[in-house]
Amino acid sequence: MIEVTVEQARLEEVIDLRHTILRPNQPRSSCYYPEDSFKNTTHFAARLDAKIVGSASVYKEKHPDFSLKQSWRIRGMAVLPEYQRQAIGTHLVETCINHAIKMKGDVIWCNARIDAVKFYKQSGFKIIGDEFEISGIGPHFLMAKNLGIHIGQTRFIKIAKKLFSNQRPVTAPQSKIKH
Ligand SMILES: CC(C)(COP(=O)(O)OP(=O)(O)OC[C@H]1O[C@@H](n2cnc3c(N)ncnc32)[C@H](O)[C@@H]1OP(=O)(O)O)[C@@H](O)C(=O)NCCC(=O)NCCS
Repeated sequence: MIEVTVEQARLEEVIDLRHTILRPNQPRSSCYYPEDSFKNTTHFAARLDAKIVGSASVYKEKHPDFSLKQSWRIRGMAVLPEYQRQAIGTHLVETCINHAIKMKGDVIWCNARIDAVKFYKQSGFKIIGDEFEISGIGPHFLMAKNLGIHIGQTRFIKIAKKLFSNQRPVTAPQSKIKH
């Protein structure tokens, strides 16, 4: 197992990884998300010596269908291919979860690519609702984890059920920033 350090990073430090791993066929400018400018946004980088091998960002952001105020979102989760399956992604996702807990979050959610569903499940996220398409990227599932601090499991399940019965496709916020 490789020992990496996961620490806060500047936005500019995570853009290359987002571009290489998540949006290789899109312009670099598409890797700046609107949420990056939110005041509560935090980026994390996994470093091996000076090299950034993984990154993730966490935002205080309500999902359009969640009625919970204290919702946090993970985006930009990426690990360089040669470093994958060595628990670096788990280290990053747990750092984001702990950050949301520290900030008194009720729930943490993400739009998970199909290939990443098992990864998020490993960290306790559940699929909510039907598969949906994000244009130019592919099929996704909304996944969420109850942080279990301010809401009980019963209320969380009630919210999840409401989402299950909601058949309209979830509209994923897209990057509006153009450079
Ligand atoms: C998804 C990603 C961040 C996972 O990072 P990682 O460092 O490889 O993940 P971990 O090593 O911590 O994996 C933890 C567990 O998740 C599951 N998992 C991770 N990647 C998986 C894959 N490709 N297929 C199936 N299960 C996977 C496994 O159960 C794994 O445990 P194991 O290796 O003991 O079997 C990484 O594969 C990646 O960058 N993928 C491309 C970009 C992407 O899809 N990002 C997510 C956008 S929503």
